[in-house]
Amino acid sequence: IAKMKLLLVLSLVAVVCNASIVRHQRRFPDDFLFGTATAAYQIEGAWNEDGKGENIWDYMVHNTPEVIRDQSNGDVAADSYHNYKRDVEMMRELGLDAYRFSLSWSRILPTGMANEVNPAGIAFYNNYIDEMLKYNITPLITLYHWDLPQKLQELGGFANPLISDWFEDYARVVFENFGDRVKMFMTFNEPREICFEGYGAATKAPILNSTAMGAYLCAKNLVIAHAKAYHLYDKEFRPVQRGQCGIAISVNWFGPATPTPEDEMAAELRRQGESAQQGYPRSRLPVFTEEEKAFVRGASDFFGVNHYTAYLVSATERKGHYPVPSLLDDVDTGSFPDDDWLKSASPWLTLAPNSIHTALTHLNSLYNKPEFYITENGWSTDESEENSLIDDDRIRYYRASMESLLNCLDDGIKLKGYMAWSLMDNFEWMEGYIERFGLYEVDFSDPARTRTPRKSAFVYKHIIKHRSVDY
Ligand code: NOJ
Repeated sequence: IAKMKLLLVLSLVAVVCNASIVRHQRRFPDDFLFGTATAAYQIEGAWNEDGKGENIWDYMVHNTPEVIRDQSNGDVAADSYHNYKRDVEMMRELGLDAYRFSLSWSRILPTGMANEVNPAGIAFYNNYIDEMLKYNITPLITLYHWDLPQKLQELGGFANPLISDWFEDYARVVFENFGDRVKMFMTFNEPREICFEGYGAATKAPILNSTAMGAYLCAKNLVIAHAKAYHLYDKEFRPVQRGQCGIAISVNWFGPATPTPEDEMAAELRRQGESAQQGYPRSRLPVFTEEEKAFVRGASDFFGVNHYTAYLVSATERKGHYPVPSLLDDVDTGSFPDDDWLKSASPWLTLAPNSIHTALTHLNSLYNKPEFYITENGWSTDESEENSLIDDDRIRYYRASMESLLNCLDDGIKLKGYMAWSLMDNFEWMEGYIERFGLYEVDFSDPARTRTPRKSAFVYKHIIKHRSVDY
């Protein structure tokens, strides 16, 4: 009898525990969009095929190959131009709801100007989109992910205020050709990186080191270009096409190193983009007229957030050389990761606990509760890692991200989707093929660019299928 009682008690305990586990198993809503993201120059290759024009990355890697860490380039990359069907097959293997990819401006308009449209470029993206739709994968388009047509760069690129007209004309071609089937557009990917790394710090094409002036000039022109494309969509295309137009902005989190007013203040300044260089006789950001401000205000249907990591900010402590993405070329040694956070193959990227939730909570109140998408989030491993397919650190990172997303949903933040960076290994800009972000490994020594799923791909697939981290 004593034994029976013990058994009874134990089974009761088991039932109670089970029930509480079930209660605490958190799920993603069925209409939450799970996807992956890529960018044209990083995956497509075919840099000069079928009428594609030269862009600033083609120009830079061919003329100054030494700026790329392994002297590689995106001439072939993952060769998605020829492998797009395999890409879509991978999306199906993962069970993706959505796929975010960018269009190559100079594949569609070889000189950048809209007077000459390249039919082969339009056909390529039509095929890509139709292949996705065939399998119920929602295509999300980024119009500009860093590959400006070289001809436009020769006219000053983003330093020329006319860029906003050129971009609007390009956007019209995109909406006209793809907007019947694509319902979500992002104008620019990471404006801050485009301007401050391309025009200020010379760490991205067009590697102009035109001091803070160039970076801020670019910033104003880009913001206007975005707003012109947005209003074009809103007025002329949305009434028929019924989609959304937004932007993808990089938002990493900066928190105080210690809970002191000094560090809190330093972190807040860093979040606002304060830079060390002061003393200019006038604002470096060109003035926006009242009319321009009204034109820009509210010009986005959702807030796309590229989020990867967080840093601690100290008012006093200086910690070695961390390449924290800073506004200018002054490396910010007052921001650094916690020593305990898991390190990736990219010096700027660590696993900062719950940072998506922290960042989104902040943005949610700052921007009056917009709709959010995480448009990028991902982890890098080393290309030389012995067993590249068993990527347990990436799995740790993605699981942590999922928990952080669920924390956002629990708080009522209007978070609608999540795009993992990246579907497959690709050309990681100045790092070439050294830092790998793929759920699928790509063999760059193989002319066929064979893709193989990593362990993380299977984990992501299960998360998507079960809408839960605890499947
Ligand atoms: C953000 C950029 O949008 C993407 O192009 C890049 O590869 C990832 N960060 C990883 O660095």
